[in-house]
Amino acid sequence: MPGFSTRAIKAASRVPRVPQPPVNVPIYQTSTFEVADAAELAGLLEFEREGHSYSRHSNPTHAALEDALAELEGADAGVATASGMAAAHAAVLSILSSGDELLMPTAVYGGMLGLARRVLDRSGIATSAVDTTDIEAVAAAIGPRTRLLWLETISNPTTAVADVEALAELAHARDVLVAVDNTFASPALCTPLALGADLVVHSTTKYIGGHSDLIGGALLGSADRVAAARAVVVNAGGNASPFDAFLALRGLKTLAMRMERHSSNALAVAQALEGADGIAAVRYPGLVSHRQHDLAQRVLRDGMAGGMLAIELAGGREHGERFLERVRVAVHATSLGGVETLVSHPASSSHRQLRAADLASAGMSPGMVRVSIGLEESADLIEDLAAAARPA
Ligand SMILES: Cc1ncc(COP(=O)(O)O)c(C=O)c1O
Repeated sequence: MPGFSTRAIKAASRVPRVPQPPVNVPIYQTSTFEVADAAELAGLLEFEREGHSYSRHSNPTHAALEDALAELEGADAGVATASGMAAAHAAVLSILSSGDELLMPTAVYGGMLGLARRVLDRSGIATSAVDTTDIEAVAAAIGPRTRLLWLETISNPTTAVADVEALAELAHARDVLVAVDNTFASPALCTPLALGADLVVHSTTKYIGGHSDLIGGALLGSADRVAAARAVVVNAGGNASPFDAFLALRGLKTLAMRMERHSSNALAVAQALEGADGIAAVRYPGLVSHRQHDLAQRVLRDGMAGGMLAIELAGGREHGERFLERVRVAVHATSLGGVETLVSHPASSSHRQLRAADLASAGMSPGMVRVSIGLEESADLIEDLAAAARPA
C-alpha cells in the first residue's frame, strides 16, 4: 500500500463527477490538466484539439467567460485576460509590428498613454493622437503607416462619444482596423462590433465585475483576430485568473440591471449638479447640453448613458483636489464601474502623465473631477457631491 503522502495527494486530487450541472460555473483553480499521451498535450498546446492543457493557455472558467462575453458582444470568440491593459496590449500587438502606427483619441484612458510611451514606443510602434469626435481630422490623421484606430465608446474621463459606425467606415476604406474599448458603456449599452468595429476590448474590472473586487480584461472579435490576440496573451503571459473570471461571470448576470440604475442615478446627479454652486460644467452624454447628446442617443441603448460623468469645478486644480477630500458618501479612489460611487482627479491620477497643454487638448481642465456614479440613492449622492463642490 502506498504511503500516506502518496495516498493523500491522490485522494485530494480526485475530481468529482457531477451528474447535475451546477447553477454557477465552478472556479477551475488548477494550473495544469492531466493528459493521456504526448500527442494529446501537443495538440492542446497548439489549440488543435478541444480541451485544456495549462491555464496560461486556457482554462474552463476563462472559457466560460470568453463564451459569455462573445455572445453578449456579438463576437465569434473572445479571450479573457489578466486586466484591461493586458487585453489592450494583446489587441495592439496582434495587429501592429515595428514600423506601424497606432492612432488614438487625444482624450483617451491614461493607461493607453502608458502603453504607448513605455511599451510600444520601445518596440518601434509609433502612436499619434487625434480628436476622434472630428471625423475630418481623423481622415487627415490616418497616414501610410497607420494600421489601427483605437476608440473608446465613451471616453475616459471626458465622456466624448465615438461615432463608431462612421469612423469604422472611414478607417476600413483606408485599410485601417478599428478596436473599441467598450469599458464605459459595457455590452449592455453598446455592441461596437455591430457598428463595424473589428475588435472590442474590456476592462472587466469595471462594470462587468461591478463590485470593485477583481482585476480582469477581455478581447472579443472574429475567430481569426481573437486567435492572433490569444497568441500574444499566451506567449506574454497575460491570462486571467480563474477566480477573477468567476467574479466577472457573476457580475455579468446583473450587468443590465446595474447599468440601468447607474444610468438613471448619473442622469439625476448630472441634471442636479449642472449650474450648481462651484460647478462650471457637467459632462454627461445623457444631458441635453452634452455636445454629442444626439450621437449618444444613437450609439447607446434605450436612452441610457452609463454611470460616468466629469465635473468641471470652477476653482481649478485646488478646487478639484479639495472636492475629493470633502465627499462623505462617495469614496476617493481610482477605478470605476462598481456599486459604490468613486471620485478621482484625472490631472493628478489617471492622466498625471499629461502636461497642462496636453490636458487642455484632451478636453480636461485642471479642476475636472471624474465621478463613477454607483448604485446608492441618487438624493444622497446629489447632496454629497453638491456639498463637496461648493466653494470654501
Ligand atoms: C476605459 C478604460 N480602459 C481600460 C482600463 C484598464 O483596465 P485595467 O485596470 O483592468 O487594466 C481602464 C482602467 O481604468 C479604463 O478606464
